[in-house]
Amino acid sequence: MEQTVVLVKPDGVQRGLIGEIIARFEQKGLKLSSIKMISLTDAILDEWYAHHKDKPFFPGLKSYMKSYPVVAMLWEGIDVVATVRTMIGITKARDAAPGTIRGDFAMSQQYNLIHASEDVAAAEREQRIIFRDNEIFDWQKIDEVHIYLDTERSR
Ligand code: CMP
Repeated sequence: MEQTVVLVKPDGVQRGLIGEIIARFEQKGLKLSSIKMISLTDAILDEWYAHHKDKPFFPGLKSYMKSYPVVAMLWEGIDVVATVRTMIGITKARDAAPGTIRGDFAMSQQYNLIHASEDVAAAEREQRIIFRDNEIFDWQKIDEVHIYLDTERSR
């Protein structure tokens, strides 16, 4: 099944929103395959945000992402990449829709609490950057039969 990488950014960690964010994904019916707290390095961030490297906000973004640890998670579900992107809301948090994580808890374009992989290729790339194979758990979530139809799960 598809997987996506989520980071609770330093502002989310500082503001005590790790539990709230995990709860939203759990309540949605997604499966947690990995979770850990890490400090991001220059090497990780240069690769992670390579597409932003020429943007004026890049130096500030890097120092913000290194300022405190982040909580990295791997979530699994059908079409989970798009689902989680919808759940987090748009980058500029004060304009994000109510009901989304950014829309409910944040105001800033930079301090927007959370990262989620943009597409499936990014999810695979980010997974390789953050997680070792032995940190990813392939376990059976027994309520899955109540979350998806059999025909959805066998797609
Ligand atoms: P995200 O969309 O997860 O990934 C890129 C991050 O860069 C974004 O979240 C913000 O944290 C940050 N960012 C994007 N645009 C700006 C901006 N104009 N000024 C400052 N930070 C930004």
